[in-house]
Amino acid sequence: MRIRTARRSDLPLLQDIECAAGEPFRALGMSAIADDDPPPLDLLDDYRRSGRAWVVAGPDDRPLGYLIADPVDGAAHIEQVSVHPSAARRGLGSTLIDHLAGWARERHLGALTLTTFSHVPWNAPYYARLGFRTLGDDELGDGLRKIRAEEAEHGLDRWPRVCMRREIPDAGTGPHLSGTERRR
Ligand SMILES: CC(C)(COP(=O)(O)OP(=O)(O)OC[C@H]1O[C@@H](n2cnc3c(N)ncnc32)[C@H](O)[C@@H]1OP(=O)(O)O)[C@@H](O)C(=O)NCCC(=O)NCCS
Repeated sequence: MRIRTARRSDLPLLQDIECAAGEPFRALGMSAIADDDPPPLDLLDDYRRSGRAWVVAGPDDRPLGYLIADPVDGAAHIEQVSVHPSAARRGLGSTLIDHLAGWARERHLGALTLTTFSHVPWNAPYYARLGFRTLGDDELGDGLRKIRAEEAEHGLDRWPRVCMRREIPDAGTGPHLSGTERRR
């Protein structure tokens, strides 16, 4: 397994991974999540061109999982991390997240953040195992507030959602992002 930045030719596969990774939500009565469209190709391509889309690939170089991230409130925000169910529970998700932490540390981003469902076993409880803690409402920066508002508008608040954060030790102070790496 190796992590590399996404290529343009990977992008349709990332959509397939997203759809397959959504299927297990059906068993929890969250069919709307399973039925949600994957990120459009042009959005995935924006992340790719910004250097903020990574894949974990198998021995044949085919992506098995992916992660896209945005700089938000001085942290690296995980917009999406998904692993194909056929490759699940082999540490690929945590490897992608650790890779992002390394990327973020080099750019002096002080933490990783994400939003997720609080009661889905492979969401908040999983991230808690990886060292993320749930943020209180009074701890959210403007960027995370905006993301939560957009999610609510998209109907995601039918189930309890939380913001979570994992500090990055020794990240230094102040983000150092190149022009292309900045948020669109
Ligand atoms: C979240 C996700 C990326 C984890 O990827 P992964 O490569 O399977 O994760 P890892 O191998 O690093 O960790 C496995 C752990 O995840 C949790 N987990 C993964 N799948 C699970 C499942 N079906 N049921 C319960 N827990 C699960 C468990 O804590 C598991 O540990 P265990 O195997 O020791 O019980 C993957 O489950 C996924 O793509 N889910 C669907 C998309 C999604 O919800 N993304 C997050 C949106 S915020």
